[in-house]
Amino acid sequence: MGWAAVEPLSLTVSLGERAYPILLGRCVEVALHQRLQELARAERSIAVVTDDRIRKELSGFFGTALRGLAVHEIPAGEASKSGRELGRAWEFFARAGLDRKGVVVAVGGGVVGDLAGFAAATYLRGVDYIQIPTTLLAMVDSSVGGKTGVNLEAGKNLAGAFHQPAAVFIQSRFLESLPKREFGAGMAEVIKYGLLGDERLFRELEDGLDLSPSHPDLPRIIRTCCAMKARIVEADERETSTEGGRALLNLGHTFAHAIENVAGYGSYLHGEAVAVGLVGAGLLSEGLERVPPGLADRVRRVLQAYGLPVRLVEPLPVPALMAAMRKDKKAQGGVPRFIVLKAVGQAALRDGVSEAMVAKIWTELGAGAA
Ligand SMILES: NC(=O)c1ccc[n+]([C@@H]2O[C@H](COP(=O)([O-])OP(=O)(O)OC[C@H]3O[C@@H](n4cnc5c(N)ncnc54)[C@H](O)[C@@H]3O)[C@@H](O)[C@H]2O)c1
Repeated sequence: MGWAAVEPLSLTVSLGERAYPILLGRCVEVALHQRLQELARAERSIAVVTDDRIRKELSGFFGTALRGLAVHEIPAGEASKSGRELGRAWEFFARAGLDRKGVVVAVGGGVVGDLAGFAAATYLRGVDYIQIPTTLLAMVDSSVGGKTGVNLEAGKNLAGAFHQPAAVFIQSRFLESLPKREFGAGMAEVIKYGLLGDERLFRELEDGLDLSPSHPDLPRIIRTCCAMKARIVEADERETSTEGGRALLNLGHTFAHAIENVAGYGSYLHGEAVAVGLVGAGLLSEGLERVPPGLADRVRRVLQAYGLPVRLVEPLPVPALMAAMRKDKKAQGGVPRFIVLKAVGQAALRDGVSEAMVAKIWTELGAGAA
C-alpha cells in the first residue's frame, strides 16, 4: 500500500531516489505498525535509539508499538550529541546484529535524531533510519531534511553528514508529556518559519493563537512548518545555493550558535538561544534592510508570549561571542554570514556585515564588554 493511501495529511519530501514521506495525523500509528511489520517480513533488523527520559515518559509507546525491538538509551540532553555517544551507538548496532539491510529508528528530540541519524549515516557506510520525533522542535524542524551530526568542543554540529531518513512519523500527542519550557523552545522554530517564509503564520501567532500541546490547531501548524522545510530542502538539499536556499532556515542561528558555544551547551535550550538570535536577526534587519521600524519589537512580543528569552539571561562577553561567530559553519574565511528579513515572511542571505554593527547588536541583546 502506498503511503498516500494510508494518510491524507501526509507530505512527501521529493528528492528523487531519496524521497520519503512525512506521516502526520490520526493514522500515523497504523502506518508505523505496517512499516515495522514490512521490515520484519523483509528480515531487516531494527535498532531503536532514544534517551532515558523519553523511554520513561513514553513507556506505553515502547511497550506497544516498539515491543520486542532492541533499544539503545542515551542520557537525555545536548551533551549526548558527542563523539563518545556516537561510538556507543555504533557498538550497540553491532551487538544488535544490524547488517547493511538494518534500520535505525530514532525516537526522540533533536539530540536523539541528530545522533542516531549520524550513527546510521556512518555505520557500515550507511544504513536506513526512521525518525519518530517527540519534541515540537524535532517535529517541525530537525526530523526533516537529513542533517545529522554531533558537537565538537570547537563548536556545534561540526561533525556530521547529510543522510535523509526513510520516513518521518509525527504524532503530536507525544507532546502532552513535554515540559512547558521544551514546548516553548520548539515554538521558537515555529516563529522562525513564520518570519522567514509565511507571513500568515506569523500574523496568526501575533494575533494570539496561543498554541499548546492540546491545541486543536497544533497539527495543522506542524504540517505547515514541515511543508515549508520540505520545499526548501527539495530546492537546496545540501545548502549550496548562493541565493540563500536552505541556509535561510538558519534565521537567528548565527547568533544562537554563538550563544550556545560561549554559554556552554545546555545552559540555554537550543530553541531559547534561537529566540534571542531571532531578536538579533530582527535588529540586524532593521539596520540593513528597508523593513519598517519595530520589526524586532514584533518578534520580541511573539517570543515572550511563549515564555522565551528575548535577550541574554546573563551577560556574555562580546569578544567571545564575536569569536564564536567567526567559527560558525556558515562563516566564509572567518567572516560570518547572516540571514536577514526583507519583510515578515521574506528572508535573504547577507555577507559582509560590519563587525561594529554585530557588536552593537550583541550589546542590545545584553552582552557585556569583558
Ligand atoms: N538536524 C537538524 O536539522 C536540526 C534542526 C534544529 C535543531 N537541531 C538540533 O536539535 C537539538 C535540540 O533538539 P530538542 O530541542 O528536541 O532537544 P532534546 O532532544 O534534548 O529534547 C529535549 C528534552 O525533552 C525530553 N523529551 C523529548 N521528548 C519528550 C516527550 N515527548 N515527553 C517528555 N520529555 C521529552 C528529552 O529527554 C530532553 O530532555 C539540538 O542539538 C539542535 O542542534 C537539529
